[in-house]
Amino acid sequence: MNSIIHLTSKNCSLIIKVERTPEILHWGPRISQIDPDILLSTERPISQARLDVDVPLSLCPELGSGHFNAPGLEGHRDSYDWAPVFDVFDQDLSAQSVIFKLQDHVAQLQLEIEIKIDFESDVLQKRITVINTGKTNYSLTKLSSTLPVPNHANELMSFHGRWSREFQTHRQSFAHGGFMQENRRGRTSHENFPGLFVGSDNFNEQCGQVWGFHLGWSGNHQLRADVKSDGRRFVQAGELLLAGEAILAESESYSTPWLYATYSTAGLNGISEHFHHFVRNNIISFPVDKPRPVHLNTWEGIYFDHDPAYIMKMADEAAVMGVERFIIDDGWFIGRHGERAALGDWYLDEQKYPNGLEPVISHVNDLGMEFGLWVEPEMISQDSLLYKAHPDWVLELQGYHQPSGRWQYVLDLQNPDCFNYLFERLNDLLTTYNISYLKWDMNRELVQPGHQGKPAVNGQTNALYALLDKLLAAHDKVEIESCSSGGGRIDFEILKRTHRFWASDCNDALERQAIQRGMSYFFPPEVMGSHIGPDESHTTRRMHHINMRGMTALGGHMGVELDPVKVPKEERQAFAKYIALHKQYRHLLHSGRSFRVDTADKRQNIYGVHNDIEILITVCQLTMPDYALPSPLRISCIDPSALYQVKLVETPTTSFQLMKQRPKWLDKTLTLSGENLKEIGLTLPILDPESALMLHLKKL
Ligand code: DGJ
Repeated sequence: MNSIIHLTSKNCSLIIKVERTPEILHWGPRISQIDPDILLSTERPISQARLDVDVPLSLCPELGSGHFNAPGLEGHRDSYDWAPVFDVFDQDLSAQSVIFKLQDHVAQLQLEIEIKIDFESDVLQKRITVINTGKTNYSLTKLSSTLPVPNHANELMSFHGRWSREFQTHRQSFAHGGFMQENRRGRTSHENFPGLFVGSDNFNEQCGQVWGFHLGWSGNHQLRADVKSDGRRFVQAGELLLAGEAILAESESYSTPWLYATYSTAGLNGISEHFHHFVRNNIISFPVDKPRPVHLNTWEGIYFDHDPAYIMKMADEAAVMGVERFIIDDGWFIGRHGERAALGDWYLDEQKYPNGLEPVISHVNDLGMEFGLWVEPEMISQDSLLYKAHPDWVLELQGYHQPSGRWQYVLDLQNPDCFNYLFERLNDLLTTYNISYLKWDMNRELVQPGHQGKPAVNGQTNALYALLDKLLAAHDKVEIESCSSGGGRIDFEILKRTHRFWASDCNDALERQAIQRGMSYFFPPEVMGSHIGPDESHTTRRMHHINMRGMTALGGHMGVELDPVKVPKEERQAFAKYIALHKQYRHLLHSGRSFRVDTADKRQNIYGVHNDIEILITVCQLTMPDYALPSPLRISCIDPSALYQVKLVETPTTSFQLMKQRPKWLDKTLTLSGENLKEIGLTLPILDPESALMLHLKKL
């Protein structure tokens, strides 16, 4: 089978040469026409002192054909068939996709490699399935999706983090050697977000060629980027399989999670635009097409201290502020007085709620708000009725003592009795009460993920997906938030069955600026839960003025996370002001194209969102400005041929410490050309550290 396949999207081309095995010749800028001599012009020389044949960097690189870097597939059949070599025998080509079928007669394995390219967003998807066609078990240890990137992808940007400090970025050279990330935490994790960028020298927000990758999977993963000694380079991503986790009997198969990848010439902004577009059209589906409601979540307001009368007072204040969805967090179910007990007992605590939950829900609904409830279904406390009845439902390895996490253990979702119990409890809650929203938490890692003694992260992850799918099928109007200690389970696959992420447990606005910026590379603002927290952050003890808190929260799916009854009236009025500002621009924030600005002062975070008519820009001074005067703000995403009305819509309310005279335009509405704004820019005021302003531009 010798052929050339050319898949295209709006701005990208994917050209695959199909000989013994398919190999990507080009994945990058769109090519209008392929030269007839392409096979000749791309033929590689064979260098001295190496193998005597050319070794393709194929869609599933093979040790057995001389690829000495990470192979795409690893495994064995009782110590045999460990270096398979696959020949393509069939392909199914359509306008935007191709499926290759390959086989190895000796190892008795087949591969199916699926590639799709979404025309509008330029996002490519790749997935591989291996089928055991032999009679004996095949022990699969690895199956990953590989995509080559060109040799001028010289720099790499990865993500790292931890609880309350998620989505931090790291830049490094991508020249010799490579990068590897392994996640063994059993959930997407705070530490190892499965995403990566490589690009041309000095690629930044606005410029450069960038290739972006994300593995849509909520369990363990391995992500690597390698430079071969011949200069070719590739990115590889797949599930990290534990020893013995994927044993394929005759005719059984294993499929990788989807790898999502995209390319842009417009720097990181181009990449995030592609991912956001793709997420909006292909990943997320909101049950009802309506604006994302502003939340009030009770956690940092009352923690476990639930008094229905007081909660109703909180709801009163929330409604006055403009909140549209009121969520009761942890602490509502039987015996849940602190974090050490009761997980699994998903029945209302009637001591705390002697009249039931209905009066609270009705009160919330009567105030015009939706009602949401916190759950953590995958977990069990040792001190619970469920544990007393079913200690054997814990995900564990018999004969060992596993450490608890937040004093709790994980339930084995592959145990059908346990799965059915959880479905029955959640179904009952959603049927009994008028609940529009579940905040689905998951507060610990999988330490000994054993199902009947065998490794089960894959099975547990798929069972979680099945539980969510079953619940949503039964309650198709309910929305779910993927929380996981804030930020611990954020990926495209969980987003197919959830509607919002709790981005971080850290409500400190300064920390949030970095967290939200990192998250914004992959996820659009409408799924990024961001709340105004108390003036003194509960995670860092840092104090922030409402300007910094309000401005930081209003750019995502906004909420408030505090006790509104206890805060002074002026502060409540300020919450109302930021909520109103959010609502005023929500249409733009939640549908427009997000961008970040490359700033001369790295202590500034400038970001925004635009559509064809409007631009909303936030300028946040994180720490002390680097220079006495800020650089003019130049807006690259603007239409240079248009005229704009430019207005300051928010400025820090405290007096400025670092500026004795304000630029006069701050108090005016300006009319400026797109060309001037792009090339000359707008002079900014000097912002004090930890404060922010917002500008609105409207095309005239
Ligand atoms: C962790 C979550 O991230 C918090 O928002 C809160 O829901 C607590 N769990 C409740 O236990």
